[in-house]
Amino acid sequence: MTTQPSPLSPQSSVLTPQSSALSTQPSVLNPQPSDLSTQPSALSPPSSTLNPQTSDLSTQPSAPKPQPSVLSSSQSSVLKPQSSVLLTPHSLLITGGAGFIGSNFVHYWIKKYQEDRVVILDALTYAGNPANLEPVANHPQYRFVHGDIRDYDLVVNLLQEEKIDTIVHFAAESHVDRSIHGPDAFVDTNIIGTHTLLKAAKKVWLDRSSEELESSSIAQSSVLSPQSSLCRFHHVSTDEVYGSLGPDDPAFSETTAYAPNSPYAASKAGSDYLVRSYFKTYGLPMTISNCSNNYGPYQFPEKLIPLLILNCLAGESLPIYGDGLNIRDWLHVDDHCRGIDLVLKKGTVGQTYNIGGNCEKTNMEVVEAICRLMDELSPNKDSAPYSSLITHVKDRLGHDRRYAIDANLITSELGYAPTESFETGLRKTVEWYLANQDWCQNIMVGNYREWIEKNYEK
Ligand SMILES: NC(=O)c1ccc[n+]([C@@H]2O[C@H](COP(=O)([O-])OP(=O)(O)OC[C@H]3O[C@@H](n4cnc5c(N)ncnc54)[C@H](O)[C@@H]3O)[C@@H](O)[C@H]2O)c1
Repeated sequence: MTTQPSPLSPQSSVLTPQSSALSTQPSVLNPQPSDLSTQPSALSPPSSTLNPQTSDLSTQPSAPKPQPSVLSSSQSSVLKPQSSVLLTPHSLLITGGAGFIGSNFVHYWIKKYQEDRVVILDALTYAGNPANLEPVANHPQYRFVHGDIRDYDLVVNLLQEEKIDTIVHFAAESHVDRSIHGPDAFVDTNIIGTHTLLKAAKKVWLDRSSEELESSSIAQSSVLSPQSSLCRFHHVSTDEVYGSLGPDDPAFSETTAYAPNSPYAASKAGSDYLVRSYFKTYGLPMTISNCSNNYGPYQFPEKLIPLLILNCLAGESLPIYGDGLNIRDWLHVDDHCRGIDLVLKKGTVGQTYNIGGNCEKTNMEVVEAICRLMDELSPNKDSAPYSSLITHVKDRLGHDRRYAIDANLITSELGYAPTESFETGLRKTVEWYLANQDWCQNIMVGNYREWIEKNYEK
């Protein structure tokens, strides 16, 4: 973690291109698409930053579900989701941006919105890999900060220094199996870490403006400050918070009751509730997305799809829990990024959106599809089909049987539709792992092997 003061980075001493176009913003009482307000704030000592390319320290730069509200009617009328509030992000803080989905999102955003400032905050746990960001690390608007989301002062400083108007919160302990072996880290990062970010966002985005506006007449008329239409806390969550479905149950919708079964899912549910509460209680402008299983480039090979591809390449067994008939909905990570983009740009403040691929597969269907692709793209030297490596192992404790996502809300309200089918997305993914075997070798070192042995005992 790097919290020691360092000289101001070149970026931090000047306003970014967009920040010169500041305007006095309409309040949410009169919401309009708007420029972002990035009023000057006292620059606090910036944290040091890490250049992922060199690994050197450098100075370069649904509410979860509608539920009865305890708010008074006057408050509730202010704090309903506000569909007409549009956000045009200009300066993003992306937490967990060195992980799987976070790094794909950074690539996606920098390619699509070249002018936007993109600041990444990542603690570089075992799942965080600076190499995931190498292709974009020289972009002029890119900055990587090696630090922990639980470091309140660091987060407050970054929000002020970089005039952050949008937080996209990916950072988490994300692997169910690890949460079974060691739940503490999941509570620490997913619950305490998310709460620390919320406190920092409230302080920088809401408290200062409330103080400033106390004497003004606008402030008296709204719990939400004028800035609240101009900033956004987007929380990236999972379908696992909804628990497990029977074979004929309807898919999870935004109003499905939470029933988390693993410590991972429970910690994500807790963080979702905290985010919701900061909207309901303080008016912090937030959105949440609950997404199904992602796959694609840069996924740490403890997760099913990269694990199977790399085990095929190594000629090792393909471990499948229990009978292999557990069902997940699968989504290519680029489609997840598109969904988050839509929620940020057009989503209703205070709303949760489910994002899914409409693509339910059993684990056996997934492993068989991977084996077929590997037989075609990288045939086994002795010509035996890769499916001969499939091995059933002891089932995961409390293994949820089925997840399925009803994505009607994001589809009808925001026009969302995945662009990759499972067939096209999986082919691209297998091709990516085959073309990037150095990346794989570099992370499959150290305690990775021990972990796999411990987790997949027969
Ligand atoms: N992978 C999926 O299929 C999936 C599906 C739905 C939702 N999600 C959610 O998406 C988010 C990202 O998932 P992922 O698969 O990319 O995870 P990941 O494990 O690949 O990456 C997590 C990142 O967070 C960082 N991190 C962890 N603790 C941190 C801390 N205290 N401070 C700062 N950084 C920290 C890690 O270094 C890593 O870079 C998570 O919130 C997860 O719950 C994942």
